Amino acid sequence: STIYLSDYQVPAYLIDTTELAFELGEDSSLVTSLLHIRRNPAANQLGAALVLHGTELELLSLAIDGRVLTASEWSQSGEQLVIADVPEAFVLRCETRIRPQENTSLEGLYKSSGMFCTQCEAEGFRKITYYLDRPDVMSVFTVEITADAQRYPVLLSNGNLVATETLTDGRHKTVWQDPFPKPAYLFALVAGKLSCVSDSFRTMNGRDVDLKIYVEDKDLDKCDHAMASLKNAMRWDEEVYGREYDLDIFNIVAVDDFNMGAMENKSLNIFNTSCVLAKPETTTDAGFQRVEGVVAHEYFHNWSGNRVTCRDWFQLSLKEGFTVFRDSEFSADMGSPTVKRVEDVTLLRTAQFAEDAGPMAHPIRPDSFIEISNFYTVTVYEKGAEVVRMIHTLLGPDAFRKGSDLYFERHDGQAVTCEDFVLAMEAASGVDLSQFRNWYSQAGTPKLSVSGDYDAEQQSYTLNVSQSCPATPGQSSKAPFHIPLKVALLGEAGQLPLQLLGESANVESADNTEMVLNVTEQTQSFTFTGINELPVPSLLRGFSAPVKLDFDYSREQLLRLMRGDSDGFCRWDASQQLGLAEIKRALADVAAGQNVAPDAAYLAACRDLLSDGSLDGAMVAMMLQLPSEAYLAEIFHPVDVLAIHHAREALRLAIATALQLELLDCYNRCCSDAPYAADAEQIAQRSLKNTALAYLMLLDNESARELATAQFENSENMTDRLAALNALVNSAAPYKAKALQSFYQNWQHEPLVINQWFQVQAMCRLPGSLETVQGLMNHPAFDIRNPNKVRALIGAFCGQNGVNFHREDGAGYRFLGDQVIILNRSNPQIASRLLVPLTKWRKYLPAAQQLMCAELQRILAEPDLSSDVYEVVSKSLQDY
Ligand code: ARG
Ligand code: ZN
Repeated sequence: STIYLSDYQVPAYLIDTTELAFELGEDSSLVTSLLHIRRNPAANQLGAALVLHGTELELLSLAIDGRVLTASEWSQSGEQLVIADVPEAFVLRCETRIRPQENTSLEGLYKSSGMFCTQCEAEGFRKITYYLDRPDVMSVFTVEITADAQRYPVLLSNGNLVATETLTDGRHKTVWQDPFPKPAYLFALVAGKLSCVSDSFRTMNGRDVDLKIYVEDKDLDKCDHAMASLKNAMRWDEEVYGREYDLDIFNIVAVDDFNMGAMENKSLNIFNTSCVLAKPETTTDAGFQRVEGVVAHEYFHNWSGNRVTCRDWFQLSLKEGFTVFRDSEFSADMGSPTVKRVEDVTLLRTAQFAEDAGPMAHPIRPDSFIEISNFYTVTVYEKGAEVVRMIHTLLGPDAFRKGSDLYFERHDGQAVTCEDFVLAMEAASGVDLSQFRNWYSQAGTPKLSVSGDYDAEQQSYTLNVSQSCPATPGQSSKAPFHIPLKVALLGEAGQLPLQLLGESANVESADNTEMVLNVTEQTQSFTFTGINELPVPSLLRGFSAPVKLDFDYSREQLLRLMRGDSDGFCRWDASQQLGLAEIKRALADVAAGQNVAPDAAYLAACRDLLSDGSLDGAMVAMMLQLPSEAYLAEIFHPVDVLAIHHAREALRLAIATALQLELLDCYNRCCSDAPYAADAEQIAQRSLKNTALAYLMLLDNESARELATAQFENSENMTDRLAALNALVNSAAPYKAKALQSFYQNWQHEPLVINQWFQVQAMCRLPGSLETVQGLMNHPAFDIRNPNKVRALIGAFCGQNGVNFHREDGAGYRFLGDQVIILNRSNPQIASRLLVPLTKWRKYLPAAQQLMCAELQRILAEPDLSSDVYEVVSKSLQDY
């Protein structure tokens, strides 16, 4: 059944304090709760029944103010427990039995590698006990945990440890108290045999915070990077947002089986091992950066999420969009801002644009949902972050900070809405965001069509801008958006000073050569005066809005932007537009049975990039990479996956052939003996080196294979080793089977490394990958209960190996259908995520559409579909 934002009502009851007692056992666990409940004075629902949430619980007893209720005094339907008659204020005592060992959904309380842990967001707490499981019910929690002392020496919950006790029966007990009222989704409990790394942090007001990262003993050597990242994040939040940590302890726990990346439970963050463990021998540069980003993200939630939380789940982007924006800025400050920006934009323009153009498209603040777990999306997170970034752009950094201060001051301890956030930003800045609010309510990616007119006589240059936004489910027509369009005009000798006729705009740069244009109308013109040469416009600088921008650049203009624009994003984007033009020509050449021959000027620009050692290596690497197949799938209609793949590969080979000397030089120049560091400079160097290696390996010659083999065997860090393995696996090198085997031999005791090993094979673009993946599903190291393994093998194959997933015989689709049906029973959240590639069926050629649709129909016909899978499948099949 569908839930609507417009149906929101304040809770009829509040829970002031929550006392929980857990007795953790080997086949079941007992949960006793004492809830101090009172009628909500704001609810105006005198005599309303008490309706609690609960699911998969065995109810043992229920009492009000010490009197046990008889069966006639309560009733149950679906996830609701209804007690018709309750006093104004009372204590509800409830006893439930749960079975964490059998909980494969990884929601609520479950066991992972011998340890008990929880995941309650969004609605998992109701799998622990009956409760008002909604974020606007905030309560002060006291938690008592009793468990076998040998098996579970470490017992953790939120807040402060207030008591420990050794019991005579071999068990022990701890009591935790969290002074900050919180919704149930932030509750956490951990019990297990864990070791920890400790450190401390002195806050801006001189308080010492005890920091601990709990892991299995064997992983103690992989915590340094997370700890350093945590301390950097704590400092950064003080310096950039004025936010100080508010308790004396902060704990992180790593668990193997986790549906998402991590969870911001108050003072007890629980992490997927993949987002906390890192060391150079086992972890790639991307892995290091992910750890840094996720540790910061969860830490930042302490303010943007916990101290100020969401009123209801439609407001999810209030905490997630803001927190992703915060963690992106943090990562930018820790590393290379341009590289981070390009990475974020790449994710947005592939995954998010695709979501916004598909059957599950929704605004960053959805109007309705069937299953909230399906709305932890790239739209809510990443587009949500772009919306906050646009506010930052429109207000400027100082007013934005004032707005943020006001937001935290006004709403500390409250559960609020996206509207409250916008109101605080408006109040602090005086900027009118009324039209800007359309970003919260309208789905779809706006398109900006821009053209330029130069008037030599008037010495003026006019940008004509028009915006449109395609229909999305439930929204056939859209009101215009308020789009901040950051621009500069490039003249022969550099950026031209900007003087805008009539209109007002935020002037950005000190030298007056960059501006943010307020695009608010369907069509609008901006005229710059005093322009005495025909300029090349640099548009959407820094990707100032999440839109598709179209401007009819000539190749010469793009080459100029790529070589000389001061905006890193625009420089990179020009390289991608040039690459796209090359791919279009390659498609035509391949279709006509002709050789693919890249344009000479384009090749010359790539050659210059490779040869200029003074450029940022990471930028060069990103500019040399052609637009990804995922990005191209957002450009072509319909998408002919195989044709695009083959044309793109042919073009890559032609580039490698033409530039082999430069590629080899570049490769050699980037090799280094320096001890590993995950810093921007080294990461850039490795990324360029491995980009060059991937190109060289396309040549399929002995010398390239020798390079890859030597790199595979001799490198001391996982970034280089894995890049070499990847290059080998995608080549015809006879050595590749041996490489895969020796890699497995060496790393079989490191689950996270074995996931990479699965993933490299799942993503192999050569024919036969499906059979490889099917074979690996029977490998002893594979475990369908572990989400990381499912993602590494099934997820990577279906989501990132287009040419094999879209096999013309439909075997890839059938494989995914089978896996979704299996996972629907054990882990609905993972099943519904895995399904996403099938939901995009409308994009492809008719034959593919039919086969994909048939799989969706087959899944829909399954009995006992979870709400997660049902929502995605049924919406995907609906017309819109
Ligand atoms: N709040 C968590 C984060 O952003 C993610 C929780 C995901 N939960 C879920 N049911 N999908 O880090
Ligand atoms: Zn988050």
